[in-house]
Amino acid sequence: MTKIAVLKETAAGETRVAATPETVKKFIGLGAAVSVEKGAGLSASISDAEYEAVGATLGAAAVVAKDADILLGVQGPDPKALKGVAKGAWIVAGLDPFGQRKRVDEYARAGVEALAMEFMPRVTRAQGFDILSSQSNLSGYKAVIDSAGTFGRAFPMMMTAAGTVSAAKVFIMGVGVAGLQAIATARRMGAVVSATDVRSATKEQIESLGAKAVFVENVAGIEGEGAGGYATEMSDEYKAAQAELVSSHIAKQDIVITTALIPGRAAPRLVSDDQIKSMKPGCVIFDLAVAQGGNVEGSKPDEVVIKHGVKIIGYSNTPAHLAADTSALFARNLFNFLSAFWDKEAGRPVLPNDDEITAAIRLTKDGKVVNERLLG
Ligand code: NAI
Repeated sequence: MTKIAVLKETAAGETRVAATPETVKKFIGLGAAVSVEKGAGLSASISDAEYEAVGATLGAAAVVAKDADILLGVQGPDPKALKGVAKGAWIVAGLDPFGQRKRVDEYARAGVEALAMEFMPRVTRAQGFDILSSQSNLSGYKAVIDSAGTFGRAFPMMMTAAGTVSAAKVFIMGVGVAGLQAIATARRMGAVVSATDVRSATKEQIESLGAKAVFVENVAGIEGEGAGGYATEMSDEYKAAQAELVSSHIAKQDIVITTALIPGRAAPRLVSDDQIKSMKPGCVIFDLAVAQGGNVEGSKPDEVVIKHGVKIIGYSNTPAHLAADTSALFARNLFNFLSAFWDKEAGRPVLPNDDEITAAIRLTKDGKVVNERLLG
């Protein structure tokens, strides 16, 4: 019988868990045995008793990992935790393959097959396996909520007997999954919202959510879209035009939320110190890219940096700030993925070698690093 193991996350500040009672029950329904480390779900508001109630075996880390065929994680487990797992066991988690490159080598040496969920291709059939989308969505929401909590004013316009409170102006930079959710959340809270991106396809999406699109026009390379719908690095000419447009706009905003990422590279710098200076004291900037180097000059992970009276915030791990919901979605992503490849006869998931998903996410196999993005 295939044994699935769920360990307590060990990375600093990680509060999520890779399986919930819902997904444990479903794995057991497929014929697997599931073993969960004691206390693994506590920081995501899930008790040991809830896992036990659906049929999981609870135990200490070493017991849980022993003879495991599949190890589920939010982040990659410490290679030391792999002692005792079955030969060729799978690790299915967000493995941060570029940031944790050495660890990938250790996984290869340990003989496990490491599958990096963040390398999942963005094809229609893999939408339900996409941890980047599920986690970014809630991060976009959280950025708005926590910016509002830090801002010393209200979001919606209010007309009271004592006079009118004006609506907050919120500007979202980078309109991927997180940015779209940030626009929707800020709009629901009554703010006046505008947004920008380098991908011109986002213009219509911004407008359909009732926000104003702030875009650079008539500059070469405007389309800004590369492989898989992701952004590409922009030309110098574009960057200069964007900085000028954004400068005049930012000076009039109350809240700026930045979400811009370029896969495999440091986050692009979008907000300079001069631009921060042009904002009014009491304004708030939330840098969702702070853990990838930051979109905002001077932002620091998990710190409130005050510059020119403007508060700059950002978390090293935003999804960990809403662990119950992000864990539920993350766990479903893992279940959706493994169940889609479940081979009933084998009693376990099987990844065909010629499948584009296999090629994209498989980092190690048979003692070697095999992923093109890491070898190239
Ligand atoms: P991301 O997290 O990689 O980046 C966030 C946003 O920042 C992107 O919209 C990007 O264009 C933007 N950006 C990058 N450099 C910028 C700059 N210099 N200035 C302003 N904005 C900048 O993006 P995410 O959320 O992963 O989405 C990327 C694309 O993938 C989107 O088109 C999204 O709709 C698509 N997608 C497709 C899925 C599927 O088909 N299965 C699933 C999820 C997303």
